[in-house]
Amino acid sequence: MRSNTFPERELAMNEVITGMNKIELDTPCLIINKDVMEANLAHMANSVKNNLRPHIKTHKSPVIAKMQLAAGAIGITSAKVSEAEIMAKAGINNILIANQITGPQKITRLLDLASDYSIQVLVDNLVNVKELSSAAEARKMELHVLIELNVGLNRCGVLPGAPALELARSVLNSRGLVFAGVEFYEGHVSKFPDSDIRKRETQKSIDLALKTKEQIEKIGMNVEVVSSGGTCTYAITGNHPDITEIRPGSYMFMDASYKQILPEFEYALTILGTVVSTPHPNRAVIDAGGKSMTQDNGLPIIVSPEGWKLIWMNEEHGVLERLDGSPLTIGDKVEIVPSHSCTTTNLYDHFFVCQKDKLIDVWDISARGKLQ
Ligand SMILES: Cc1ncc(COP(=O)(O)O)c(C=O)c1O
Repeated sequence: MRSNTFPERELAMNEVITGMNKIELDTPCLIINKDVMEANLAHMANSVKNNLRPHIKTHKSPVIAKMQLAAGAIGITSAKVSEAEIMAKAGINNILIANQITGPQKITRLLDLASDYSIQVLVDNLVNVKELSSAAEARKMELHVLIELNVGLNRCGVLPGAPALELARSVLNSRGLVFAGVEFYEGHVSKFPDSDIRKRETQKSIDLALKTKEQIEKIGMNVEVVSSGGTCTYAITGNHPDITEIRPGSYMFMDASYKQILPEFEYALTILGTVVSTPHPNRAVIDAGGKSMTQDNGLPIIVSPEGWKLIWMNEEHGVLERLDGSPLTIGDKVEIVPSHSCTTTNLYDHFFVCQKDKLIDVWDISARGKLQ
């Protein structure tokens, strides 16, 4: 397939032809198993009653965001203004930028976006409320904000209870801002392997948020949105009667780290590498290393061939050790599941989209590297 994205040399070098087998692709490259990804999307959509607002940090691709919307999502979540810009330009409205946006440059970009699209943003402090308010007021705009609550992750977020109530009041009294509700991310409980413990700890986070919601409502403010995350707690937050939306990201690709907690989702994203050296029958080195797959959640795992293990990586080398597999030879292809799909996706320009093992499409990772 000579696709529209063809000008890029790297893609051209792949001699990408529809129907070719994925192992003929040049490497390292990222492969999507489309059927598996669609099954993951459907599983999430069918498992939750609450609204879905998937986090696009995992795929950074408008094509996939549109598939999530087609599968029933009400909108999307981004981490960055620049990611939201890419999604909006691709025609996606209704974006929650789940972050604090500060400083004149980004606030200008945020308001530019919010003047044409439905945008919400998080606040957790008074300084930010004031700068957003005066910028929005100067442009005679109304910016919709959610208050981010710290329910235990200890990242951003105002403390639930009185501090959150005070911040909600200040939003109410700030020209140019519209209070839309509360947001929290229970990332500190998401990786408890025991599902009972995960449920109990998630419930504690939810209780903190809902108690704060009640306090805000008691002073006559309407809390329209209660937004929570993520993949590992979807079954709990996605069906809680007082949560309005959830923001899972990783579910559609899955990865080696989340799979241990959620076996019901399958691996849809892999990295393809090539054996470039076999210094010893029990050792093989591939052309994919730390610049091709991240290890912030541990080492990626090999899914093909069987009987080999990735034991360490340098920037451009992945070193494999033979367990009980057949010896590898130069040119053999190795397929690997990332340990963290979100950070791995951010390293590539394209997804090579396959059905079974056949290439059917190439999708740009348009928001890759969008950090601002
Ligand atoms: C604000 C926010 N919402 C939702 C998520 C959920 O992401 P995931 O489903 O990949 O765990 C995250 C993860 O980092 C997050 O930071």
